[in-house]
Amino acid sequence: MPVVNFRKTDFLPAQEQGSALQKKLIITVDGPAASGKGTLAKKLADRLGYAYLDTGALYRAVAMATLEIGGDPGYMQDVAPALDIICRNLTPELLSNPSLRTPEVSQAASKVAAHPQVRQALLQYQRDFAHKPPGLVGGAVLDGRDIGTVVCPDADIKFFITASVEERAKRRYAELCDARTDMTFETVLDDLKTRDQRDATRAVAPTLAAEDAYILDTTGLNPAETLEEAISIIRARFLSETNDNGGAQPANGKPTATAV
Ligand code: DC
Repeated sequence: MPVVNFRKTDFLPAQEQGSALQKKLIITVDGPAASGKGTLAKKLADRLGYAYLDTGALYRAVAMATLEIGGDPGYMQDVAPALDIICRNLTPELLSNPSLRTPEVSQAASKVAAHPQVRQALLQYQRDFAHKPPGLVGGAVLDGRDIGTVVCPDADIKFFITASVEERAKRRYAELCDARTDMTFETVLDDLKTRDQRDATRAVAPTLAAEDAYILDTTGLNPAETLEEAISIIRARFLSETNDNGGAQPANGKPTATAV
């Protein structure tokens, strides 16, 4: 599994953005909760002019619909009607509903995501998005848990984002404080640990780094630094052929990375 050998890079020049658009890359960003994968994926999509899909929002939508009809997210028979409704109404508005972000929905999403039927029902939507992204965009960036391993095993470039659980809990706690939560830091930390454990140990498509994923540890990195590291890898791997700005290039045209 490659691991990133950090180095500083300049902003991606405009001509490189153009080449990335032409290449229509599929970029996957997996990792545990609050690792920074969503922030990185969104920023990558913005930078490259790609479409972005937060696949966690799909599971969150099914979870919220299950709770709304009074169902137990742990029981597939309760989840089935909600899944049916969501699969017929998957819209960008639905997926960006802020109510999907509550701690209750987070835990419920982790539970519905363990049902193989739920994963199967949402698979094609994600693959279609990756291969035919909506709008006049180049490629697609998808973030989640199993995007590099199951949804898009043939993606052009895969990232797996990690950070210590304490750092992730701090980030999530700060977000929740902004939203005026009465949860304590300890509760947030416990919630994350529970969700990590469930997501990583479920039988189907657990949280896992693909063998060919670049592992980025964001502990101590801010979002801008994380973005630059990811851009650096993409640039080294895909954009160098058309790069005529004289910027630093790896000698062999391969990513600046070392095998673990
Ligand atoms: O990324 P997130 O925290 O919004 O995801 C919410 C839940 O959805 C997460 O606990 C596990 C599940 N999930 C998944 O199983 N597979 C994905 N590709 C994305 C999310």
